[in-house]
Amino acid sequence: MSTEIAAPSAAETAPVQTPVQKKVFLKTYGCQMNVYDSDRMSDALAKDGYISTDSVEDADLVLLNTCHIREKAAEKVYSELGRLRDMKKARAADGREMVIGVAGCVAQAEGAEIIRRSPAVDLVVGPQTYHRLPQFLERARAGERVIETEYAIEDKFEHLPMPDKARTRARGVTAFLTVQEGCDKFCTFCVVPYTRGSEVSRPVSQIEAEARRLVEAGVRELTLLGQNVNAWHGLGPDGTEWTLGHLLAHLSDIEGLARLRYTTSHPRDMDDALIAAHRDLPKLMPYLHLPVQSGSDRILKAMNRRHKAADYVALIARIRAVQPDLALSGDFIVGFPGETDEDFEDTLRLIETVGYAQSYSFKYSTRPGTPGADLTDQVPEDVKSERLERLQALLFSQQTAFQRACVGREIDLLIEKPGRLPGQVVGRSPWLQPVIVDAKTSQIGDIIRVRITAAGTNSLHAEVA
Ligand code: 5AD
Ligand code: SF4
Repeated sequence: MSTEIAAPSAAETAPVQTPVQKKVFLKTYGCQMNVYDSDRMSDALAKDGYISTDSVEDADLVLLNTCHIREKAAEKVYSELGRLRDMKKARAADGREMVIGVAGCVAQAEGAEIIRRSPAVDLVVGPQTYHRLPQFLERARAGERVIETEYAIEDKFEHLPMPDKARTRARGVTAFLTVQEGCDKFCTFCVVPYTRGSEVSRPVSQIEAEARRLVEAGVRELTLLGQNVNAWHGLGPDGTEWTLGHLLAHLSDIEGLARLRYTTSHPRDMDDALIAAHRDLPKLMPYLHLPVQSGSDRILKAMNRRHKAADYVALIARIRAVQPDLALSGDFIVGFPGETDEDFEDTLRLIETVGYAQSYSFKYSTRPGTPGADLTDQVPEDVKSERLERLQALLFSQQTAFQRACVGREIDLLIEKPGRLPGQVVGRSPWLQPVIVDAKTSQIGDIIRVRITAAGTNSLHAEVA
């Protein structure tokens, strides 16, 4: 092998013309999985020469990462596309290009329909093909209207770039890491098994490598994500089959990583290893988002949740027995087809029994292609509204009680970002509440001991203990 270093050629020494940097505006709708995907897409686009912009007016590429979970979420996309069409027209009159792409679950579910309804759209890309985004964009810029909604989740994770270190640093000290995607549960109201495909778990080595990289870039708190995150399973380095509890234990050995969370879980997949993790891992935060949807056995059956209300209550008791400090959050649907007043009362009763620190509640929304869409005994809209109001009043009173109960407690606070006022910073409590405290911004990323002094609806105030 020659060790000679060749003199640079004339071409190499000529001044390099820097191309005008293309700008991407990426708007994210829906769940944390979309937030994660948007970050990965923007990392992939950065490699392709795009810089991110917060201003849609500046953008050469506008990407909407969409959500299909309820009708309202899906319809938002079309109204946004209407606005973008006008902007694109005005831009074309100035001789400037604006590529419009639709990504995410609406893209996956509606594909060609989007192109038909929204003539300004150049590209429709489903969640499993983001790693090929740069190629698709090239085709779109050449004038093709691209629709790419092929499934191959493994491919995506193998080929998407690892999180970029500098960009991760800029995103802050907490990060999401998708470990599982898709769902095989087929709850009868839900589009996810159709939009995100069947359950796929990423291998341990891939997850660990990504976690280490995030921690090297300054991340202190990792939230493992999956539509059904506690269905994650994989082969451990010890050759045995691992479930999420083992994975959490493994990741909790990473030096520098201070906190772990996971979301979203299904009650049927809370196995012994995961419950043990809540007992054994100090880094695993005492917070659990465990949707139940309804407290009526009849409705749970119609929803194909495959457990009874009492199973859920017993499960919560088992987890609280090993982690008494656990704060719970849940998802609820009111007005599922056939839901009677009595069924609804069962849901209120379950909420009273369990006690939630936080929760998300929705009116049932018929989703095309789901078994729920074929059910005839739909609940009238006004009944749904009335039930939702009652349910939310109860959940709100529980949330308020939880907030108030925090006052006077000493907790560990992970400082995340500057506060609104000078001298203030905002951190997260173990139970995910934003906490405002007087401290220096140089302490971002530190975990400090604070005493909670006051509670608002969502956030808390504290002083250094
Ligand atoms: N209608 C209303 N809420 C729904 N969810 C999912 N599908 C529907 C639907 N068709 C809610 C569930 C789920 C959360 C993410 O969204 O509560 O847990
Ligand atoms: Fe949807 Fe049910 Fe799967 Fe959750 S578990 S993603 S609600 S089908």
